[in-house]
Amino acid sequence: MLVPVILAGGSGTRLWPVSREARPKQFLNLEGTSTLFQQTLLRLEGLATERPVIICNEDHRFLVAEQVRTLGLEHPSILLEPLGRNTAPAIALAALQAVLSGDDPLLLVLAADHHIPDVAAFREAILQAQELALGNNLVTFGVLPGYPATGYGYIHRGAALEPFGFALEAFVEKPDHATAQGYVDSGEYYWNSGMFVFKASAYLAALGEFSPDILQACRRAFEERRADRDFIWLNATLFGQCPGNSIDYAVMEKTRNGAVVPLDAGWNDIGSWSALWDVLEKDSCGNVCTGNVITADTKNSLIRAEKNLVVALGVEDLIIVETENEVMVVHKESAQAVKEIPALLEGWQ
Ligand code: GDD
Ligand code: MG
Repeated sequence: MLVPVILAGGSGTRLWPVSREARPKQFLNLEGTSTLFQQTLLRLEGLATERPVIICNEDHRFLVAEQVRTLGLEHPSILLEPLGRNTAPAIALAALQAVLSGDDPLLLVLAADHHIPDVAAFREAILQAQELALGNNLVTFGVLPGYPATGYGYIHRGAALEPFGFALEAFVEKPDHATAQGYVDSGEYYWNSGMFVFKASAYLAALGEFSPDILQACRRAFEERRADRDFIWLNATLFGQCPGNSIDYAVMEKTRNGAVVPLDAGWNDIGSWSALWDVLEKDSCGNVCTGNVITADTKNSLIRAEKNLVVALGVEDLIIVETENEVMVVHKESAQAVKEIPALLEGWQ
């Protein structure tokens, strides 16, 4: 039994002004086909999985239900968080839902904001991870690092496992630039893709050992849940008492039962406008233009017009995003700093 668990509660602030509180990036159609969240579900076709569990913020329940419905998929289980407490609690809720109903399936934990073009390689890696997870390992997928990114976790590969994969020697979440550079140079590290496979009971056991306060708060909030026809609502007061932490810091940095399966599928976390530019098809000048855009003598830029005509002349390496109410112009190198913009605007009308 393999149950997909889709984490869809992030805020995606580095893709402002298009991604915002009311409609974070995972629910946006950024690539012109379907939303990142829908692509996460579509990628599961052909894998023998059970009904997915989706965990998101209460405010996004209708977005989620509608995006699932338009794919014509079987009704998933949708767990609603009153507020975000990061990924360690979110995954705990999915694991508790399974274990408290008497099952102990393998959970396939997926982020809702990834770009994975080679679906066949992705599925193959999942089959391998499933086998390793049956031995009570917490399995993650490792991507060969292209550059010393500081926004990812790093996995130090240990001994080779039979018939595939490696033991997880060490896991370091979001190291500084110098440390990341050393990891990349060593050739012994993978990026953590942020996707995992483990038995529900194996995750709960690790969480209980390393962060018992998170496990206890999630258990109480889940036990006091309320369900209607479409959604499962956690108890807001009890979930509010849960400490926030990611699975990476709370569990993966500490576990002694980690394993890693290499993933070579063109994986990319669409975390910023420059990452989106990286993965989208470009014109002969390296530009990605969406909407009513005219360019001349412009190179390697992402230009998105939602309402007005945008004309770019004699510029390069820019991100220009125009929406109903805002125009943002940022150098590609500052793409990570876009997440500071909402705070800059607070109190400004
Ligand atoms: N339900 C729920 N609740 N989902 C959440 C929450 C929450 O409170 N917080 C984040 N998520 C979802 C996001 O929507 C995303 O799909 C996924 O969990 C991962 O969260 P991110 O916030 O995007 O994590 P990250 O990118 O900083 O780091 C993680 O992913 C990297 C690869 O993309 C880590 O696992 C890193 O180690 C990894 O390298
Ligand atoms: Mg991410």
